[in-house]
Amino acid sequence: MSINPLMAVLGAIFLLVATSSPSASAVALKVASIDPCTVADFPALCRGTIKGQTNVNAATDVAIRELMKRTRQAKEMAAKELKRDGGVATCLSNFNSAFDNLDKALKNIKENDGFSLNINLSAVLTDYDTCSDAMKESREINNVIYKSAGVLYQMADNCLALSTLVKH
Ligand SMILES: *[C@@H]1O[C@H](CO)[C@@H](O)[C@H](O)[C@H]1NC(C)=O
Repeated sequence: MSINPLMAVLGAIFLLVATSSPSASAVALKVASIDPCTVADFPALCRGTIKGQTNVNAATDVAIRELMKRTRQAKEMAAKELKRDGGVATCLSNFNSAFDNLDKALKNIKENDGFSLNINLSAVLTDYDTCSDAMKESREINNVIYKSAGVLYQMADNCLALSTLVKH
């Protein structure tokens, strides 16, 4: 999880623009306007989340709301398993932070602020990654919280990819 997903997406877009004719990149954008999940790193997970939504703002909004729902569930699990120390405590505080950042991201979409949206969603990815690292460090990778953090990370990665289609 050390590759910055934003850089990966920007890199892919750059390659596309640099190596192909303008019409080819126009085609790629057209495809994304039919199925926004073509830009996602985890397209199957993305499609299961946005449920046929083709409007990119709406798709990103739906994906963020679904991730907030899953994060709330993960917070409840972490709160039940909370011990004085260990990775779960780190996860609980990072899930809280992720939830707040996702809430900010929803506002960013409403305000068509693609720049802040990108930064706030990147912060969400870091939150889940910090949880995973803490669980690894305290040797709790068989814990369900570790597994949830992995899925939440993939969903956040998809949100970030979708957000690159939102107009700035
Ligand atoms: C995140 O979004 C909020 C608005 O909801 C905004 O005030 C803040 O500047 C954004 N964060 C960054 C780092 O852009």
